[in-house]
Amino acid sequence: QKQGYDWFMRKEIFEQPRAVADTLLGRLNDRGELVLDEIRMSPETLRRINKIVIVACGTAFYAGLVAKYAIEHWTRIPCEVELASEFRYRDPIIDPMTLVVTISQSGETADTLMAIRHAREQGARVIAICNTNGATIPRESDAVIYTHAGPEIGVASTKGFTTQLIACYLLGLYLAQVRGMKYGDEIAALLQELERMPERMQGMLDAQQQILDLAEELKEEKSFLYLGRHVGYPMALEGALKLKEIAYLHAEGFAAGELKHGPIALVSEGLPMFIVVPPKGRDQLRDKVVSNISEVRARGARTIVLAEGCDDEARAAADVFIELPHVSTLLQPLVAILPLQLFACELATLQGHDVDQPRNLAKSVTVE
Ligand code: M6R
Repeated sequence: QKQGYDWFMRKEIFEQPRAVADTLLGRLNDRGELVLDEIRMSPETLRRINKIVIVACGTAFYAGLVAKYAIEHWTRIPCEVELASEFRYRDPIIDPMTLVVTISQSGETADTLMAIRHAREQGARVIAICNTNGATIPRESDAVIYTHAGPEIGVASTKGFTTQLIACYLLGLYLAQVRGMKYGDEIAALLQELERMPERMQGMLDAQQQILDLAEELKEEKSFLYLGRHVGYPMALEGALKLKEIAYLHAEGFAAGELKHGPIALVSEGLPMFIVVPPKGRDQLRDKVVSNISEVRARGARTIVLAEGCDDEARAAADVFIELPHVSTLLQPLVAILPLQLFACELATLQGHDVDQPRNLAKSVTVE
């Protein structure tokens, strides 16, 4: 039931604080350690892993891109992320020391399933991150971390995505914990921060009016660019994908550092550009993104900047400033994606599209 919302997608956007809280539930023991028994691998086995390969499609692939930044930073285990549709056809190097992690909301995506079969044939262990109990992907994997988003009806994934991020963070932090990494204090602080995340996310959703107004203002536009760096880069990709899927508009996400390598040629007078700015703690990265904002603005772009409230320079460079709460860099996607989801949902609504059932798309892609 839509419970008073016009679309399932909008309802699911607003369910995210609850979905994230549910996915985190029961993960910490009374010593403040992370518990992830469902991985069903001994600490010795986990310590022997020398490579992680994340395999997924679409939005789940973008969750995997975020996971790579987090897992490599926390565990120092090399981590690759690959589109499931490419994985099996390029003869990937995997063996029993490789941990393959698949991410799938539906648990039925054919490409991801085929990738699992291929990985297991090579002797790799497979952990599935999945939102659907008893689906084919978890049944064919060695272990499963379930996300607790509840059924996702809208074809465009929203709460599926943010809960996938949570599962990826938990897996990364758990591996770091088991392997006794030097980031012990950071891990404890991040676990506490994750617990506070639903509240932060709620704060973003409570400020929705600004996004609804923005969609009204930009509803005649035909083309949008999204820029981000570090974990903001997959947010740019995911923000653009949402708009493509449900509003059928040209929307492209780029790594901000690539701007001068091509995309800046697309910038023209009035072009709306969403730019995700890293938190102030990451000053080198942040400074570079802030100067990207000035560069595109000087060429006429309409800059819609997502940055921390205390970031005065980012605010000064923005035509529209969307305030993000102060959170750790690696966790920023949880709050940064919300306005981008809401913007796509509202724009598509204003254009009269069927937001829940966009043309040509199915909720789960069960053919290769
Ligand atoms: O069910 P899955 O997570 O395996 O689905 C993967 C993609 O098909 C899915 O994320 C798709 O990109 C969504 N429509 C995105 O909103």
